Amino acid sequence: MGLTHLFPEQASTLAPEVDHLLYFLVAVTVFFSLLIFCAIFYFAVKYRRRSDNELPHVQHTGYTLEILWSVIPFGITMVMFTWGAAVFFNAAKPPRDSIQIYAVGKQWMWKLEHLEGRREINELHIPIGRPVRLTMTSEDVIHSFYVPAFRTKQDVVPGRYSTVWFQATKPGKYHLFCAEYCGTNHSIMGGYVYAMEPQDYENWLSGGASEGSLAQNGQKLFESLACVNCHKVDHTGRCPSLEGVYGTTVKLSGGATVKADEAYIRESILNPQAKIVAGYEPVMPTFQGLVTEDQVLQLIEYVRSIGPKQVPGAASSSPAPADSKATPGAPPAKR
Ligand code: CUA
Repeated sequence: MGLTHLFPEQASTLAPEVDHLLYFLVAVTVFFSLLIFCAIFYFAVKYRRRSDNELPHVQHTGYTLEILWSVIPFGITMVMFTWGAAVFFNAAKPPRDSIQIYAVGKQWMWKLEHLEGRREINELHIPIGRPVRLTMTSEDVIHSFYVPAFRTKQDVVPGRYSTVWFQATKPGKYHLFCAEYCGTNHSIMGGYVYAMEPQDYENWLSGGASEGSLAQNGQKLFESLACVNCHKVDHTGRCPSLEGVYGTTVKLSGGATVKADEAYIRESILNPQAKIVAGYEPVMPTFQGLVTEDQVLQLIEYVRSIGPKQVPGAASSSPAPADSKATPGAPPAKR
């Protein structure tokens, strides 16, 4: 039993970074705690009162000591700041070529959906050696997606999307927790992340994709909810065409603009009056209560699949679904 047993396994590229920073913080803390404790002890003995009527005589020394004990801690805290910021920014920014996976938290389970269509509950299969980006939301209260072996923890908040990314470094089965108290069964809200060799992952992924990809299911919804009647591809509908819109900047009535990202699409589905595209009437009804968070994600994934091929910041590197209507080089919708 060594010191290593105090820490969870290191199983992601982020884990050693976080641990090294922690070791540094612990070392600095221990060093100064000991230094201060020893100094107090030494001075208490050395300058103890030796007789009842003893008066200490005041000493005036230079500023050297005061400057040193201000400048040295300042330097050390700046090291902590820049080092911590570097680790934080790295942890906050998913690489471009990340695999996109969606997660929905609800009391009390994690639902995970792969773009190719495989769905899991309280289990997440990922390949090693590739960055994975999770886009997450909640159906009810705040949860927190926590994988100690990856040193990642991210709140999952109802009504908005948060992201987390990690790259597993070795195959294995790692605990997944909810790290935000979310009600009676919070403590059992969790499961396992299975990090697999890329080939095993591919096999697993193709093992149960009969339900269709996320984008395909999104397209079916788009038709069954009659979105397609107004959002016509040829721009003749009462609502803007969604072809090529994802990731572009959309002009709104009133002159403002908005980036067509996940959050904007979600808002447009659930609260369509919030932002009206320039040149269109506010005729779209809300789908609040008619679609689940999972279905909103499917619709978003459909809109993304018909978006421009190369979207800066788009995280997916998976092939477009077979029946995607994507037209490479399609001009972004003007409105
Ligand atoms: Cu979900 Cu705690």
